[in-house]
Amino acid sequence: MSNNPIGIFDSGLGGLTVWREVRRQLPNEDIVYFADSRNCPYGPKSPDEIVRLARTIADGLLDAGCKLIIVACNTATAAAIDELRAAYSVPFVGMEPAIKQAALHTRSGKVGVLATKGTFNGRLYKATSQKYARNIDVMVQIGDGLVELVEANEYNGPKALPLLQKYIGPMLEHGVDQIVLGCTHYPFFKPQIEALAGPQVTVIDPAPAVARHAADLLAEHSLLNTDSRCVTDVFASSGSTSTMAALLTSITGRKYKRGMLQMGGNQYDCLR
Ligand code: DGL
Repeated sequence: MSNNPIGIFDSGLGGLTVWREVRRQLPNEDIVYFADSRNCPYGPKSPDEIVRLARTIADGLLDAGCKLIIVACNTATAAAIDELRAAYSVPFVGMEPAIKQAALHTRSGKVGVLATKGTFNGRLYKATSQKYARNIDVMVQIGDGLVELVEANEYNGPKALPLLQKYIGPMLEHGVDQIVLGCTHYPFFKPQIEALAGPQVTVIDPAPAVARHAADLLAEHSLLNTDSRCVTDVFASSGSTSTMAALLTSITGRKYKRGMLQMGGNQYDCLR
Protein backbone atom coordinates (compact mmCIF):
# COMPACT_ATOMS: atom_id res chain seq x y z
CA MET A 1 0.00 0.00 0.00
CA SER A 2 2.84 2.46 0.78
CA ASN A 3 3.82 2.41 -2.92
CA ASN A 4 0.32 3.52 -3.96
CA PRO A 5 -0.39 7.12 -5.02
CA ILE A 6 -1.83 10.01 -3.03
CA GLY A 7 -5.12 11.35 -4.42
CA ILE A 8 -5.81 15.09 -4.52
CA PHE A 9 -9.02 16.65 -5.76
CA ASP A 10 -10.67 20.04 -6.12
CA SER A 11 -13.72 21.50 -7.83
CA GLY A 12 -11.23 22.52 -10.51
CA LEU A 13 -7.72 23.87 -10.81
CA GLY A 14 -7.30 25.60 -7.43
CA GLY A 15 -6.09 22.39 -5.83
CA LEU A 16 -2.97 22.65 -8.02
CA THR A 17 -1.73 25.17 -5.42
CA VAL A 18 -1.94 22.32 -2.90
CA TRP A 19 -0.47 19.74 -5.32
CA ARG A 20 2.55 22.08 -5.79
CA GLU A 21 3.30 21.96 -2.04
CA VAL A 22 2.64 18.23 -1.69
CA ARG A 23 4.99 17.56 -4.60
CA ARG A 24 7.65 19.76 -2.95
CA GLN A 25 7.34 18.22 0.52
CA LEU A 26 6.78 14.59 -0.54
CA PRO A 27 9.14 14.04 -3.49
CA ASN A 28 8.87 10.21 -3.32
CA GLU A 29 5.11 10.04 -3.70
CA ASP A 30 3.10 9.33 -6.85
CA ILE A 31 0.09 11.63 -7.13
CA VAL A 32 -3.25 11.40 -8.95
CA TYR A 33 -4.89 14.85 -9.18
CA PHE A 34 -8.55 15.20 -10.15
CA ALA A 35 -10.11 18.51 -11.22
CA ASP A 36 -13.91 18.48 -11.34
CA SER A 37 -13.84 21.38 -13.81
CA ARG A 38 -17.11 20.33 -15.45
CA ASN A 39 -18.95 21.00 -12.16
CA CYS A 40 -16.89 24.04 -11.06
CA PRO A 41 -17.61 26.25 -9.14
CA TYR A 42 -18.76 24.34 -6.03
CA GLY A 43 -19.17 27.56 -3.99
CA PRO A 44 -22.84 28.22 -4.85
CA LYS A 45 -23.89 24.49 -4.82
CA SER A 46 -25.85 22.86 -2.00
CA PRO A 47 -23.95 20.71 0.53
CA ASP A 48 -25.91 17.62 -0.61
CA GLU A 49 -24.84 18.09 -4.20
CA ILE A 50 -21.20 18.59 -3.18
CA VAL A 51 -21.31 15.40 -1.06
CA ARG A 52 -22.61 13.49 -4.11
CA LEU A 53 -19.86 14.89 -6.37
CA ALA A 54 -17.14 14.30 -3.75
CA ARG A 55 -18.21 10.67 -3.28
CA THR A 56 -18.02 9.98 -7.02
CA ILE A 57 -14.52 11.46 -7.09
CA ALA A 58 -13.42 9.55 -3.98
CA ASP A 59 -14.72 6.28 -5.54
CA GLY A 60 -12.62 7.05 -8.62
CA LEU A 61 -9.47 7.88 -6.66
CA LEU A 62 -9.83 4.72 -4.58
CA ASP A 63 -10.29 2.74 -7.78
CA ALA A 64 -6.97 4.29 -8.91
CA GLY A 65 -5.43 2.81 -5.72
CA CYS A 66 -5.01 6.01 -3.69
CA LYS A 67 -3.80 5.40 -0.12
CA LEU A 68 -4.72 8.86 1.22
CA ILE A 69 -6.95 11.57 -0.23
CA ILE A 70 -6.46 15.31 0.12
CA VAL A 71 -9.66 17.29 -0.37
CA ALA A 72 -7.84 20.32 -1.82
CA CYS A 73 -11.00 22.42 -1.80
CA ASN A 74 -12.25 24.40 1.19
CA THR A 75 -15.82 24.28 -0.09
CA ALA A 76 -15.84 20.49 -0.55
CA THR A 77 -14.16 20.05 2.85
CA ALA A 78 -16.84 22.18 4.49
CA ALA A 79 -19.66 20.21 2.85
CA ALA A 80 -18.35 16.66 2.65
CA ILE A 81 -15.32 15.79 4.83
CA ASP A 82 -17.39 14.17 7.62
CA GLU A 83 -19.32 12.00 5.14
CA LEU A 84 -16.12 11.01 3.32
CA ARG A 85 -14.37 10.01 6.55
CA ALA A 86 -17.40 8.01 7.63
CA ALA A 87 -17.79 6.25 4.28
CA TYR A 88 -14.22 5.19 3.47
CA SER A 89 -11.34 3.66 5.40
CA VAL A 90 -8.42 5.64 3.84
CA PRO A 91 -7.27 8.80 5.66
CA PHE A 92 -8.67 12.11 4.33
CA VAL A 93 -6.95 15.48 4.70
CA GLY A 94 -9.19 18.54 4.39
CA MET A 95 -8.67 22.27 3.98
CA GLU A 96 -9.74 24.86 6.47
CA PRO A 97 -9.10 28.61 6.40
CA ALA A 98 -5.89 29.38 8.32
CA ILE A 99 -7.62 31.48 10.96
CA LYS A 100 -5.52 30.01 13.76
CA GLN A 101 -2.28 31.14 12.10
CA ALA A 102 -3.75 34.59 11.38
CA ALA A 103 -5.02 34.99 14.96
CA LEU A 104 -1.61 34.01 16.35
CA HIS A 105 0.29 36.53 14.23
CA THR A 106 -1.96 39.57 14.01
CA ARG A 107 -0.64 42.74 15.65
CA SER A 108 -3.66 44.90 14.86
CA GLY A 109 -6.14 42.29 16.13
CA LYS A 110 -7.87 42.46 12.74
CA VAL A 111 -7.76 39.76 10.08
CA GLY A 112 -9.46 39.32 6.73
CA VAL A 113 -10.72 36.02 5.29
CA LEU A 114 -11.48 35.58 1.60
CA ALA A 115 -13.43 32.40 0.77
CA THR A 116 -16.51 31.07 -1.04
CA LYS A 117 -20.08 31.26 0.22
CA GLY A 118 -20.10 27.47 0.77
CA THR A 119 -17.03 27.66 3.01
CA PHE A 120 -18.40 30.50 5.18
CA ASN A 121 -21.74 28.67 5.55
CA GLY A 122 -20.09 25.43 6.72
CA ARG A 123 -19.96 24.21 10.30
CA LEU A 124 -16.16 23.89 10.06
CA TYR A 125 -15.62 27.59 9.41
CA LYS A 126 -17.86 28.58 12.31
CA ALA A 127 -16.15 26.11 14.67
CA THR A 128 -12.64 27.22 13.62
CA SER A 129 -13.36 30.92 14.00
CA GLN A 130 -15.08 30.41 17.36
CA LYS A 131 -12.14 28.37 18.59
CA TYR A 132 -9.27 30.57 17.41
CA ALA A 133 -10.65 34.03 16.73
CA ARG A 134 -12.93 34.81 19.65
CA ASN A 135 -11.04 37.97 20.54
CA ILE A 136 -10.07 38.88 17.00
CA ASP A 137 -11.94 41.17 14.64
CA VAL A 138 -12.50 38.97 11.56
CA MET A 139 -13.68 40.58 8.34
CA VAL A 140 -15.09 38.04 5.90
CA GLN A 141 -15.45 38.46 2.15
CA ILE A 142 -16.85 36.13 -0.52
CA GLY A 143 -14.55 36.13 -3.54
CA ASP A 144 -17.25 35.91 -6.23
CA GLY A 145 -15.80 35.57 -9.73
CA LEU A 146 -12.22 34.74 -8.73
CA VAL A 147 -12.56 30.95 -9.18
CA GLU A 148 -13.88 31.50 -12.71
CA LEU A 149 -10.87 33.68 -13.61
CA VAL A 150 -8.48 30.88 -12.60
CA GLU A 151 -10.53 28.25 -14.48
CA ALA A 152 -10.26 30.45 -17.60
CA ASN A 153 -6.51 31.07 -17.06
CA GLU A 154 -7.32 34.78 -16.74
CA TYR A 155 -6.05 35.31 -13.20
CA ASN A 156 -3.35 37.63 -14.54
CA GLY A 157 -5.73 39.34 -16.96
CA PRO A 158 -7.48 42.73 -16.82
CA LYS A 159 -10.56 41.46 -14.94
CA ALA A 160 -8.59 40.39 -11.86
CA LEU A 161 -7.38 43.71 -10.45
CA PRO A 162 -10.79 45.45 -10.15
CA LEU A 163 -12.23 42.39 -8.36
CA LEU A 164 -9.28 42.12 -6.00
CA GLN A 165 -9.45 45.86 -5.24
CA LYS A 166 -13.15 45.49 -4.46
CA TYR A 167 -12.55 42.57 -2.06
CA ILE A 168 -9.24 43.53 -0.46
CA GLY A 169 -9.63 47.34 -0.37
CA PRO A 170 -12.21 47.38 2.48
CA MET A 171 -10.11 44.93 4.49
CA LEU A 172 -7.09 47.21 4.22
CA GLU A 173 -9.15 50.28 5.16
CA HIS A 174 -10.38 48.35 8.17
CA GLY A 175 -6.75 47.77 9.27
CA VAL A 176 -6.28 44.01 8.81
CA ASP A 177 -2.67 42.85 8.90
CA GLN A 178 -3.36 39.20 7.96
CA ILE A 179 -5.35 38.05 4.93
CA VAL A 180 -6.32 34.37 4.88
CA LEU A 181 -6.81 32.78 1.46
CA GLY A 182 -9.72 30.45 2.24
CA CYS A 183 -10.11 28.93 -1.21
CA THR A 184 -7.42 26.93 -2.99
CA HIS A 185 -7.93 28.92 -6.21
CA TYR A 186 -6.93 32.18 -4.54
CA PRO A 187 -3.16 31.59 -4.11
CA PHE A 188 -2.94 32.15 -7.89
CA PHE A 189 -3.72 35.80 -7.00
CA LYS A 190 -1.24 35.94 -4.09
CA PRO A 191 1.36 38.14 -5.82
CA GLN A 192 -1.36 40.62 -6.85
CA ILE A 193 -2.93 40.65 -3.37
CA GLU A 194 0.51 41.18 -1.79
CA ALA A 195 1.19 44.06 -4.15
CA LEU A 196 -2.14 45.66 -3.23
CA ALA A 197 -1.74 45.09 0.50
CA GLY A 198 1.90 46.12 0.92
CA PRO A 199 4.61 44.69 3.17
CA GLN A 200 2.78 45.26 6.48
CA VAL A 201 0.16 42.66 5.58
CA THR A 202 0.77 38.89 5.55
CA VAL A 203 -1.18 36.89 2.97
CA ILE A 204 -1.63 33.32 4.22
CA ASP A 205 -1.86 30.31 1.90
CA PRO A 206 -2.63 27.18 3.96
CA ALA A 207 -1.13 24.76 1.39
CA PRO A 208 2.25 24.25 3.15
CA ALA A 209 0.51 23.34 6.44
CA VAL A 210 -1.85 20.96 4.63
CA ALA A 211 1.05 19.20 2.88
CA ARG A 212 2.82 18.85 6.26
CA HIS A 213 -0.31 17.37 7.77
CA ALA A 214 -0.58 14.86 4.89
CA ALA A 215 3.07 13.87 5.42
CA ASP A 216 2.47 13.37 9.17
CA LEU A 217 -0.61 11.21 8.52
CA LEU A 218 1.27 9.06 6.00
CA ALA A 219 4.08 8.55 8.54
CA GLU A 220 1.58 7.74 11.29
CA HIS A 221 -0.09 5.09 9.11
CA SER A 222 3.30 3.73 7.86
CA LEU A 223 2.27 4.75 4.35
CA LEU A 224 5.24 6.89 3.29
CA ASN A 225 6.75 5.74 0.02
CA THR A 226 10.45 5.24 0.68
CA ASP A 227 11.32 4.01 -2.83
CA SER A 228 13.42 6.58 -4.63
CA ARG A 229 12.46 5.93 -8.21
CA CYS A 230 10.95 8.04 -10.95
CA VAL A 231 7.74 9.43 -9.41
CA THR A 232 4.62 10.05 -11.49
CA ASP A 233 1.96 12.75 -11.50
CA VAL A 234 -1.32 12.21 -13.36
CA PHE A 235 -3.76 15.12 -13.71
CA ALA A 236 -7.28 14.09 -14.69
CA SER A 237 -10.23 16.37 -15.35
CA SER A 238 -13.99 16.02 -15.78
CA GLY A 239 -13.72 18.98 -18.18
CA SER A 240 -11.10 20.21 -20.60
CA THR A 241 -7.42 19.78 -19.82
CA SER A 242 -6.29 22.83 -21.84
CA THR A 243 -6.25 25.38 -19.00
CA MET A 244 -4.85 22.77 -16.65
CA ALA A 245 -1.94 22.21 -19.06
CA ALA A 246 -1.28 25.97 -19.24
CA LEU A 247 -1.40 26.41 -15.44
CA LEU A 248 0.80 23.38 -14.83
CA THR A 249 3.37 24.61 -17.32
CA SER A 250 3.37 28.00 -15.59
CA ILE A 251 4.01 26.25 -12.24
CA THR A 252 6.62 23.69 -13.31
CA GLY A 253 7.98 24.99 -16.62
CA ARG A 254 7.34 21.51 -18.12
CA LYS A 255 5.17 20.42 -21.04
CA TYR A 256 2.57 17.70 -20.40
CA LYS A 257 1.28 14.88 -22.63
CA ARG A 258 -2.45 14.36 -23.08
CA GLY A 259 -3.99 10.94 -22.45
CA MET A 260 -6.95 9.14 -20.91
CA LEU A 261 -7.43 7.81 -17.39
CA GLN A 262 -9.96 5.14 -16.39
CA MET A 263 -11.22 5.84 -12.88
CA GLY A 264 -14.23 4.34 -11.11
CA GLY A 265 -15.84 3.19 -14.38
CA ASN A 266 -15.43 6.62 -16.04
CA GLN A 267 -12.96 7.76 -18.68
CA TYR A 268 -11.32 11.15 -18.13
CA ASP A 269 -8.95 13.27 -20.16
CA CYS A 270 -5.65 13.53 -18.38
CA LEU A 271 -2.16 14.99 -18.51
CA ARG A 272 1.06 13.21 -17.57
N1 DGL B 1 -10.98 25.59 -4.72
C1 DGL B 1 -12.30 25.64 -4.16
C2 DGL B 1 -12.20 26.03 -2.67
O1 DGL B 1 -11.13 25.89 -2.11
C3 DGL B 1 -13.13 26.50 -5.04
C4 DGL B 1 -14.55 26.49 -4.71
C5 DGL B 1 -15.48 26.59 -5.87
O2 DGL B 1 -15.40 25.76 -6.77
O3 DGL B 1 -16.32 27.49 -5.80
O4 DGL B 1 -13.14 26.43 -2.04
